[in-house]
Amino acid sequence: MKMETLNDANRQLIEATTEFVKNQLRDAEGGHDWWHIYRVWKLAKTIGKAEGADGLVVELGALLHDIADAKFNGGDETLGPEMTRQFLVDQGVDRKVIDQVEAIVRDISFKNTFGREVQRTLELDVVQDADRLDAMGAIGIARAFNYGGYQGNVMYDPQLPPRVNMTKEEYKKGKSTTINHFYEKLLLLKDKMNTDTGKRLAEARHQYMLTFLDTFYREWEGGNSVVF
Ligand code: ADP
Ligand code: NI
Repeated sequence: MKMETLNDANRQLIEATTEFVKNQLRDAEGGHDWWHIYRVWKLAKTIGKAEGADGLVVELGALLHDIADAKFNGGDETLGPEMTRQFLVDQGVDRKVIDQVEAIVRDISFKNTFGREVQRTLELDVVQDADRLDAMGAIGIARAFNYGGYQGNVMYDPQLPPRVNMTKEEYKKGKSTTINHFYEKLLLLKDKMNTDTGKRLAEARHQYMLTFLDTFYREWEGGNSVVF
């Protein structure tokens, strides 16, 4: 099993990486701030351990995965992987580790991999599961309403049905409600999990979102909450 506790040198490297990432993301908006990275890092460690993934690659991949989101950099999808490589080279990290971490940062987002063959690795699967889990459950609900408010979207409009089978452009541009975002993305995530551990963790978060929606509709009409 490869997932071992990190040695002192690697521990220091992780510490330096957290400082670097915190500093880079100090002005990031709520959904992609340091605390998103922190949660994905924790989740990735848990999943990586259970799946027997390489601990160092998983931790570095999780910490660096949103270092330069293309959305906030004029659509530039090469910046994140480049910054990752440069940082790790400066830290004197092993070439093989750098290649693996750079691949995670490059391939974690579905849209970046369009029209290109992606080599799946266990470590990419783990970090991608962790990133997706952070869009689900109580945190996922909070992030969705935070993002919707930031965009000026309404929470819910009973007249506006969810958009299904959207093109990529429609998804990015179209106005929708935050409740619709659950049907357009969040409730679909559970079936996209890569690892068995990710699937298991996704199940509870998925159920929590269903209960939330159920309660939301009841309260919308003046009814009662779902009580556990
Ligand atoms: P990723 O984490 O893959 O970069 P996004 O940048 O699309 O994903 O989303 C960041 C967070 O904002 C996620 O929690 C996601 O659910 C939420 N979000 C994205 N688009 C919307 C939307 N239209 N309405 C509400 N929340 C959204
Ligand atoms: Ni992320």
